[in-house]
Amino acid sequence: MAFGLFKKKKEAASEAPKKSGYINLKIKEVVNEIDDAISIHFEQPAAGDIQYQSGQFFTVIADINGKEQRRAYSLCSSPFVDANPAVTVKRVQGGLMSNYLNDNARAGQELRLMEPIGNFTTTFDGSNARHIVLFGGGSGITPLISIAKSALDQEPNSKVSLIYANQNIDSVIFRATLDQMVSESNGRFALVHVLENAPEGMECTTGWLTEQIIKESLGQLPQEVAEGTEYFMCGPGPMMDIVESSLSNLGIDKAQVHKESFTTTLDSKDEAASEASDEIIAREVTVIYDDEEFKYTVEPGETILEKGLDEDIDLPFSCQSGLCTACRGKCVSGKVKMDEDEGLSEAEMDEGYVLPCVSHPLTADVVIEIG
Ligand SMILES: Cc1cc2nc3c(=O)[nH]c(=O)nc-3n(C[C@H](O)[C@H](O)[C@H](O)COP(=O)(O)OP(=O)(O)OC[C@H]3O[C@@H](n4cnc5c(N)ncnc54)[C@H](O)[C@@H]3O)c2cc1C
Ligand code: FES
Repeated sequence: MAFGLFKKKKEAASEAPKKSGYINLKIKEVVNEIDDAISIHFEQPAAGDIQYQSGQFFTVIADINGKEQRRAYSLCSSPFVDANPAVTVKRVQGGLMSNYLNDNARAGQELRLMEPIGNFTTTFDGSNARHIVLFGGGSGITPLISIAKSALDQEPNSKVSLIYANQNIDSVIFRATLDQMVSESNGRFALVHVLENAPEGMECTTGWLTEQIIKESLGQLPQEVAEGTEYFMCGPGPMMDIVESSLSNLGIDKAQVHKESFTTTLDSKDEAASEASDEIIAREVTVIYDDEEFKYTVEPGETILEKGLDEDIDLPFSCQSGLCTACRGKCVSGKVKMDEDEGLSEAEMDEGYVLPCVSHPLTADVVIEIG
């Protein structure tokens, strides 16, 4: 089995790298998880194991049709349990990178990556006795299974529940691994499948993930959903919207709810920019990165990151949609307009952090420090 739980136990994960860098990793194995999703397991580099936290993601960089593309892929492996880091990539219809990887990734190849980053994580501590509830939809299972494995391994007194929504049984990624995790967990891991089309006789909830189903599923869990329970969700936007509003209606504090978005609801950055076109005009910005200072003018309809890349500045980025925070910087002077702020917490925004991939300068004195 590709993801044998607890079988390749390692010492412990250490802190994530402070600054994102680039690495080439050799593919050790490609596993077909379901018809339209593969897992790519990487060999550890000779220089030392990849350091990451459960819930973080790699950025895959590849030339596709002569143009560099970058996309974020969450690690589905656990740094505490799995010897090799791995990602799972589900095909998106018409998608460049997901189809490229599903069609071409082979053992022995090298992939260019940015080191793992991301805030969708938690600190594991052996003295914790908590309940972690995970809501997953489709490929959104990837960071959640990593969190589940790490919590079960590192926190003997904690419990984990997963409410996992899919179209049908054939679209359930990691089905066998999840079953194995349940059976090896001594009752500490509970799994509720929610399937739109369920096979006859299967023990699961049938239908869409609605507020009623969410409440019923939480009520069915063998572990108590008590004060202090932490919630993590990752899946399609509409699914996460319903989970978020249901938890809010149940009176659960926002601070206990963590969310990872794979896609943005914005149709186009240009559209969002034009909505505020009265404020957005060509302005010069200053970007400080890697101890160097760059000045350039950003036109309406382009973002601070886009223009920086056009200027051949090697700025860090991944999703280019305001979701992943790979481009995150601190706006130390001036004001920017962000088309999307999903990737940032309120606390980060209060501290002045911005996402240059979706930002336009609103004042003439914008200075952003990246890194
Ligand atoms: C932090 C983060 C972690 C991620 N982790 C994973 C992961 O573990 N596994 C995984 O498979 N993907 C993951 N993604 C999504 C991934 O980065 C890509 O967006 C996805 O693979 C599509 O890329 P593409 O090049 O194939 O499609 P593109 O060529 O970028 O897009 C093609 C079309 O599909 C739409 N689209 C893009 N993504 C999706 C989607 N997920 N569902 C439906 N429509 C979409 C686009 O709007 C566009 O219209 C993650 C994204 C983020 C931001
Ligand atoms: S590149 Fe992902 S948030 Fe900017």
